[in-house]
Amino acid sequence: MTVEIAAELFPSSATSGPHGITVGGVALAELASRYGTPLVVYDEAHLRQRCCDARSAFPDGVSYAAKAFLCKAIARLVHEEGLGLDVASGGELAVAVAAGLPGSAITMHGNNKSDREITLALRHRVGRIVIDSHEELTRVEADAAVLGLRVPVAIRVNPGVQAATHPSIRTGGVESKFGVSIVSGAAQSLARLAQVSRSVDLHGVHVHIGSQLTGMGPSDDAIASAAAFALMHGAEELIVGGGLGVPYRVGDHAPTFRDWSSAAGAAAERGGFTGRILAEPGRSIVAAAGIAVYSIGTVKEAGVGTRFVAVDGGISDNPRPALYGARYHAELVAPVDDSAPMDEMRYTVVGKNCESSDVFAEDVVFHRSPRAGDLLAIPVAGAYGYAMASNYNGLGRPAVVFVADGQERLVLRREDESDMSRLDVA
Ligand code: LLP
Repeated sequence: MTVEIAAELFPSSATSGPHGITVGGVALAELASRYGTPLVVYDEAHLRQRCCDARSAFPDGVSYAAKAFLCKAIARLVHEEGLGLDVASGGELAVAVAAGLPGSAITMHGNNKSDREITLALRHRVGRIVIDSHEELTRVEADAAVLGLRVPVAIRVNPGVQAATHPSIRTGGVESKFGVSIVSGAAQSLARLAQVSRSVDLHGVHVHIGSQLTGMGPSDDAIASAAAFALMHGAEELIVGGGLGVPYRVGDHAPTFRDWSSAAGAAAERGGFTGRILAEPGRSIVAAAGIAVYSIGTVKEAGVGTRFVAVDGGISDNPRPALYGARYHAELVAPVDDSAPMDEMRYTVVGKNCESSDVFAEDVVFHRSPRAGDLLAIPVAGAYGYAMASNYNGLGRPAVVFVADGQERLVLRREDESDMSRLDVA
């Protein structure tokens, strides 16, 4: 008998069989025994396919939003696949540079760039800086003048449109800190300044109203508004941000890159814009390529007719449950053992952090009773898990491996106990 995995949530190379769940031709159990747990496993072929799909939907250009998951290996991979890289800080920029990406492939974002970040971006000759305020334009102009540069910029507009997603990841409503308001007229005055500036070139208009969007409606209005704005100010590029949602659990639905690009194209047309349309997806490139693998340490009865399965990670390696109430799918990695009866019990998968929000999955049915020492796989764990991980409770970040064609490579080493005091200087 084989393990029935929820195939739609796993990378296309995932199979289940006598070695349990295998991804990219490598058994997760083998990876866990070699690298330990928690472990994040990315299917390289899946990552590359997502890059290709995004590029063919947005032929004018795609930049991967590094905040979803960044290390040198992913920066190189997306670059090899012809994508640019969006960075939101000097730290992300430094990783991109360390990975060997040329400045021209990098877009510098951020709603509060420091002088140092602006200088670094200019020194590396980034492909564009996305301006987020009047003050920032002045600072970029001043720096550009010192360096004798004319800097390509885009203006991030806030269209005053609220996305249908979790309030913490909406970025386009009038109350949002992101972008410059079209509604108040601030964006128009900023664009006029950029148009006459001798230090910057107004290439583009940028709009991003939220993340994990599973429908297109409000984004269409935001894009139409940004498109009309781009037209009015002679910008030849419309950057429609990221935001494309992904299914996290069985039964979830999300649009495809194609659905997104068609909707964006139609909305831009509505705004009268005929220039280039670029996208910067983060989650939709990396989420489903990544599987988090944990070891179960404890199984215990809860007082309410469920049992807890506690794993050796938690909100310290993926804070999304605590931040957004996110819930995931979970599977035992092990193959079905014919001698073990099917387990009818419902389980709640929790971590080992000291917070009650430390819950990965609820109402989980496993193919057999989970026990201490079993491996547990959480699919669709590739976006904003590792990227937002912390050392809360003194837990180290997981190791990260990429798998392809039956081979794995370690791309990020695990943090261990000795890392927990590495910043201490007294
Ligand atoms: N471009 C800009 C300017 C952004 O702010 C973002 C995400 C993206 C692109 C990529 O968006 P994506 O395609 O990944 O939705 N930590 C949250 C998500 C925060 C997204 C912030 N900005 C989460 O775990 O759901």
